Amino acid sequence: MAGPRVCVSDFELEARRVLPKAVYDYYRSGADEQSTLADNVDAFKRWYVVPRILRDVSTVDMSASVLGQRLSMPLCVAATAMQRMAHPEGETATARACRAVGTGMMLSSWATSNIEEVMSAMTSVGEGGVMWLQLYIYKDRELTLSLVRRAEEAGYKAIFLTVDTPYLGRRWDDMRNCFKLPPHLSMSNFSTASMAFSEESYGNDSGLAVYVAKAIDPTLCWDDITWLKQHTRLPVIVKGVLTGEDAVQAVNYGVDGILVSNHGARQLDGVPATLDVLEEVVQAVQGRCEVYMDGGVRRGTDVLKALALGAKAVFIGRPVLWGLACQGEQGVVELLDLLKEELRLAMALSGCRSVSEVSRSHVRRAEFNSRM
Ligand SMILES: Cc1cc2nc3c(=O)[nH]c(=O)nc-3n(C[C@H](O)[C@H](O)[C@H](O)COP(=O)(O)O)c2cc1C
Repeated sequence: MAGPRVCVSDFELEARRVLPKAVYDYYRSGADEQSTLADNVDAFKRWYVVPRILRDVSTVDMSASVLGQRLSMPLCVAATAMQRMAHPEGETATARACRAVGTGMMLSSWATSNIEEVMSAMTSVGEGGVMWLQLYIYKDRELTLSLVRRAEEAGYKAIFLTVDTPYLGRRWDDMRNCFKLPPHLSMSNFSTASMAFSEESYGNDSGLAVYVAKAIDPTLCWDDITWLKQHTRLPVIVKGVLTGEDAVQAVNYGVDGILVSNHGARQLDGVPATLDVLEEVVQAVQGRCEVYMDGGVRRGTDVLKALALGAKAVFIGRPVLWGLACQGEQGVVELLDLLKEELRLAMALSGCRSVSEVSRSHVRRAEFNSRM
């Protein structure tokens, strides 16, 4: 029998064994040659943790906040589409796990459980946990606004507007697998087969790329932030910022938060690792809104490094899918608890007794000798 799962890669190895190949490929892969996919992870190795000693770390307060909502830790769950391919309970299992751990969950527009049922899973047991909606802007603006209204009514606390997907990136595995949803599943926020990605045929291509080209609005531009803000009372966070210049522009358009993200390296290959641009964004924003990051976070020290470089909180995508595939809700709880414990230890061993004590002085960029 395999031993206990002690790190995120243990979850991935097990998930790979249990998931159908096309599902594992869809979850794992990045765009094109996947150089950014590897770099998102490698970037964390380019930074050292600089610990401080003799600071009585017998208690470490890991609580954090995102837009005023208290969380048990500065680590939240990013939107990943179609979670029922990983486990029959899909997004509802993830929501219950986030509730149990006391953290936030960003629900994908493309979830296989709908906005309302995920919220009731989140509120079904105990206290803790926050729900946010990730939003894609559809060519059909009324349809888009109906998602926003449903999220407001159900008690979601913010909208994460994804801005890096006017078209879907070229994900070779999905193209080779002609990726589509299994017939018993659909994107359940939508009532028509064409919008719910449950049509029979998408031809000889990644079904999702065909879906995006058909349904998602590629005219998206800055004025759409104004448009969205006019139609919702919820805070709007822009997801997919990679430069200081765009961050300033986003702040000028009145966003409430910025998520530094390259969509888990699934859109444009060759862009920088998110950790490498985080500080540029934080400096450009100058505290005018909260800044978060995602991409390649796989261990507690990664979270610590991102906090030290100015992130208010970080998000994880794939690891949650591995937790779900291994053991549903319990697998996600175990995965989040593991990362929480790794972060607690990383904070204690570097002399940080609270998230606010993690500062820029706790990291230093590693210098590599080039052999070129
Ligand atoms: C399988 C999968 C599906 C995703 N679906 C969405 C989505 O529907 N909307 C979105 O904005 N981002 C989506 N993302 C991107 C994540 O929100 C997040 O930016 C990324 O996964 C973070 O990188 P990580 O997986 O290395 O932690 C998806 C990522 C993966 C891996």
